[in-house]
Amino acid sequence: MRMQGRVAVVTGAGNGLGREHALLLAREGARVVVNDPGGSVNGAGGDNAAADKVVAQIRAAGGNAVANYDSVATPEGAQRLIDTAVKSFGRVDALINNAGILRDKSFAKMALEDFEAVLRIHLLGSTYCTKAAWPLMIEQKYGRVIMTTSVAGTSGNFGQANYGAAKMGLLGLMNVLAVEGAKANIKVNAVSPGATTRMTQGLGAVSSEIDELMQAAHVAPAVAYMASEDCDFSANIITAAAGGFGRVQFFETAGVQFDPRKPITVDMFADAVGRLTDLGTAKPTAPGVLGQMPARLATVGILL
Ligand code: NAI
Repeated sequence: MRMQGRVAVVTGAGNGLGREHALLLAREGARVVVNDPGGSVNGAGGDNAAADKVVAQIRAAGGNAVANYDSVATPEGAQRLIDTAVKSFGRVDALINNAGILRDKSFAKMALEDFEAVLRIHLLGSTYCTKAAWPLMIEQKYGRVIMTTSVAGTSGNFGQANYGAAKMGLLGLMNVLAVEGAKANIKVNAVSPGATTRMTQGLGAVSSEIDELMQAAHVAPAVAYMASEDCDFSANIITAAAGGFGRVQFFETAGVQFDPRKPITVDMFADAVGRLTDLGTAKPTAPGVLGQMPARLATVGILL
């Protein structure tokens, strides 16, 4: 019962991964706000039944949950969602930004409207919800925020320029909020899931056998852990698919250092490009803007 006494908000919890997150968080003792306006994978339509069914399932199992039907894609909707949590349960301890849609097309054929719609729900929706919950978390000096990213962003995938951009944007948001929330014991992490849901059906999965193994319920334990007080890390990207878990991390190579007090030419860069891109020397990137610059400059006698 890692979430005993805690309140969790799960966006897009009427289907797929969000539903499993909500069910598991409730089983772990959380009071849960199940957010979902319903609607199709591409964001059309709406139906309160999506959220209602999950709430009913949680209550039938002895848990405590309320529904919210707002779209996360407007600041007002996101605020009403967080207000629902406060009115119903008095606080917000964990926010799972999970809601999302797909509008896949090759970039050449993608309408900008579809690019913007995907960014609005994934990136701005997560931003609006987090922005509404943030002051409460700062005030109570506790919070757990989870972003939902994707290999489409971290590795690239044909036909998902809008989605990949949104999913990588979420990691930038995560990195900065992890720094800004640190003093208030707010941990901000991301899950990079893989699961057979209505969103991924028909996307050309590897085989029906793998589809069968990729249950949304197998992703939820990583999310429930990161939503709990036990989670003491921040800015981690945790992969979760078919019972396998791992971590994605950005690295920077040791690189090369020229003397910046002298001219630097394209030829110099061209000669060094093999060495500076060699991942054998790479180290994880760390918060802050200087990165490996101080260590590199030291190699040419400049100490910062
Ligand atoms: P899903 O389509 O089953 O669930 C998404 C839910 O978000 C739906 O219930 C939908 O009604 C809701 N939603 C859509 N627009 C919304 C809005 N404006 N406000 C609130 N809720 C809204 O899809 P799935 O697969 O469960 O996806 C959940 C999250 O996981 C998404 O962010 C998705 O991009 C991400 N993801 C999923 C992967 C997978 O393998 N299924 C892989 C990588 C990321």
